[in-house]
Amino acid sequence: MNGDCELAQKIISASQKYLQSNFMPKIIDKQYINDEYLEELRFFRTCYPIRLLVIKFISIGMGKKSVVAKFNNMSGKFIVFEGVEGCGKTTQMQLCSQWLESLNISVVLTREPGGTELGKDLRALLLEKSPNRPIGEVTELLLYAADRAQHIEEELKPNLATGKFILCDRYIDSTIAYQGYGRGLNMSIINQLNQIATGGLASDLTIWLDVDVEVGLSRKRGQAKLDRIEQETIAFHRRVQQGYTELAASNPSRILRIDGSGSQDFVQQSIQEILQQRLFS
Ligand SMILES: Nc1ncnc2c1ncn2[C@@H]1O[C@H](COP(=O)(O)OP(=O)(O)OP(=O)(O)O)[C@@H](O)[C@H]1O
Ligand SMILES: [Mg+2]
Repeated sequence: MNGDCELAQKIISASQKYLQSNFMPKIIDKQYINDEYLEELRFFRTCYPIRLLVIKFISIGMGKKSVVAKFNNMSGKFIVFEGVEGCGKTTQMQLCSQWLESLNISVVLTREPGGTELGKDLRALLLEKSPNRPIGEVTELLLYAADRAQHIEEELKPNLATGKFILCDRYIDSTIAYQGYGRGLNMSIINQLNQIATGGLASDLTIWLDVDVEVGLSRKRGQAKLDRIEQETIAFHRRVQQGYTELAASNPSRILRIDGSGSQDFVQQSIQEILQQRLFS
């Protein structure tokens, strides 16, 4: 970007110098209109469209880059909570939202699937167990991707653009962990779909609440009826957990692991410390 700016600036100032020092004085002073001048004028006429073309190309390049930069530097913050079933995402997001609001920060709580009106319908299809209406693995993957694409356009981008602090329950890492590691679907297809659905929008920070699969599921069993994904085998949930472990290891600056097995208050304290360090310092 800086390199392009400098180059564009050099071309513009060189052209201005050319106009001022070589061209303009000769128009003003007619004695300069001679063969040498006419030759220079011809040369300038040839060069001028080329100069315009070069500047135009650079401007187009700079324009694209500035759109990307704007996208990445949106004033809001995008924080994702990830982890296996019952790890405490909903609980911690609520506590985190209360804390941020006490700091006068405008917070949006959202989730995948189900962060939009269309997404609510997709969530119902994805999570309600209906033996008469089984969902294929690829269909499941595509439904999650559809939910995500809609969520980004309708909810995430507009809120980030107006400076909101978004706390989102699950995002791309869930798809990698559940459909990639859990179901064993092709990772490169998953990554491509994530790219298509998100358009490259990444979280500012992803908090992985790490609890043992058994601990999480036992917390959920104390609650209402388990959904379609929660009813998967323990082996499936262990593969998902392995997925999070590997994702966190390979994305250390984006994904931060927090031990989710402590008390709710203790976990919340750890989250607040991390947000303070990473986003407010
Ligand atoms: N640190 C904790 N210690 C003990 N119980 C907890 C803790 N955090 C949450 N719980 C309880 O565990 C249950 C599941 O928590 P929660 O709904 O926040 O998890 P979740 O990650 O959102 O689950 P899901 O994946 O189903 O959305 C709730 O009953 C909640 O009160
Ligand atoms: Mg939850």
